Amino acid sequence: MKAKIFADRRFPVGPIDEKVYGSFVEHLGRAVYGGMYEPGHPSADEDGFRADVMELVKKLGVTLVRYPGGNFVSGYDWEDGIGPRELRPRRLDLAWSSIETNQVGVAEFQKWAAKVGAAPMMAVNLGTRGVEAARDLTEYCNFPGGTKFSDLRRSHGYEEPFGIKYWCLGNEMDGPWQIGGKTAEEYGRLAAETAKVMKWVDPDSRLVVCGSSNTSMPTFGVWEETVLSHTYDYVDYLSLHSYYGNRSGDTAEFLACSRDMDEFIRTVSAICDSVKQRKHSDRTMFLSFDEWNVWFHSNEQDKQVEKWTVAPPLLEDIYTFEDALVVGCLLITLLRHCDRVKIACLAQLINVIAPIMTETGGRSWAQTIFYPFMHAAAFARGDALNTRVECGSYSAGRYGDTPYVESVATINESDRTVTVLAVNRSADEDAETEFTLGGAGALTKERHIVLENADLKAVNTADDPERVLPRDLPLSEKTVLGARSWNVIRYRY
Ligand code: AHR
Repeated sequence: MKAKIFADRRFPVGPIDEKVYGSFVEHLGRAVYGGMYEPGHPSADEDGFRADVMELVKKLGVTLVRYPGGNFVSGYDWEDGIGPRELRPRRLDLAWSSIETNQVGVAEFQKWAAKVGAAPMMAVNLGTRGVEAARDLTEYCNFPGGTKFSDLRRSHGYEEPFGIKYWCLGNEMDGPWQIGGKTAEEYGRLAAETAKVMKWVDPDSRLVVCGSSNTSMPTFGVWEETVLSHTYDYVDYLSLHSYYGNRSGDTAEFLACSRDMDEFIRTVSAICDSVKQRKHSDRTMFLSFDEWNVWFHSNEQDKQVEKWTVAPPLLEDIYTFEDALVVGCLLITLLRHCDRVKIACLAQLINVIAPIMTETGGRSWAQTIFYPFMHAAAFARGDALNTRVECGSYSAGRYGDTPYVESVATINESDRTVTVLAVNRSADEDAETEFTLGGAGALTKERHIVLENADLKAVNTADDPERVLPRDLPLSEKTVLGARSWNVIRYRY
């Protein structure tokens, strides 16, 4: 098969916000305890954080981490996780039927995020709580001192405010599974009042209001419209969440699921713009795609997990090479919408539907989906460019006619590099690809990295952590995207 990708330096989609390379750590399963934090582990540092995990997080290139949930936050009392550890209560976590020990809380998370070089994005509880708790938490974290909660922070040994800028106003509040779930009217009003107060405490804070939990929610669309009609003037981002899975075993269809993400972003952008017009606002509502990934492998095994234990092994999806191709297509889709999507979080980061896995007390390793994310975070910087792709297509079940080649081009003026990220979805045909960039003069190809595997179901494990690994192809005149492969092609201009 032949493929042609056309882009032009003069037609950017927009700047890529570095926060699109975000991820997510929830108090869920072994994400925090046995993942991020394990004081007895041989690699643990003076704060009890696993150094092997921090190394992997840095290698992944994560720029922002959302915390502490997720569904967990809707029952969370942030005060349980501050001050002397021995005084912190053990609590029932009703979101995941687990026991929460509160040995890690906001200050420890803040410290860990600084160590891995990521910006923290905190969520406030709008399930069981509301304006008052959000106000107090903002004061504890961000107010310099001389008041009840800022002085409480100082008394805990944190003289300087944390300066947490990004905050989520609750989580998936439309879901019946959510502790304290709400109608769009109830949530819209509460989010507006909470947002007002949080910005009064800290005018530099930037707030994310909850959109629908996914596109199949019965209230999808109406929820966004209603919530924004209450909050448009007070918030900065609207959230989107989406998870994909190959439940039917139809790889061709699964590889096309990024088309659903594309449609989702377009639809929500249109709703935001319609509210903007109705309100005669001059502010554009940006999008925070703060939960996205493949999630389905662990669904059945999770039903067997014992309830009311500390850090049970929940949502431990073991990702295949096929999943890595899907994650690549989803990343490409996010980048193609970088004018609108300014925050995105691969959900999640450690052990729980995660690119990084650990054994409690033992080894850690990178799953297959680690690599497309690592490549995009490292190389797809600067501006994304509008592209036109000419290639064959196929019928991908519910996603309809789908091009074999999914791609995005990015240009970084600061080091004069151009990066093409591309997935070839075809099962049996390589794509001999020609890339034409207007407005940049001659291009020199410098690198072609590929992630491929003859076995779509290949996985990385503690015993075989390098079964699916990217490699550099020898440079040649021709650029060939192998059948079912993820590609990073780097040029200089
Ligand atoms: O990421 C796992 C869960 O998925 C989150 O807690 C929730 O927000 C979503 O439903």
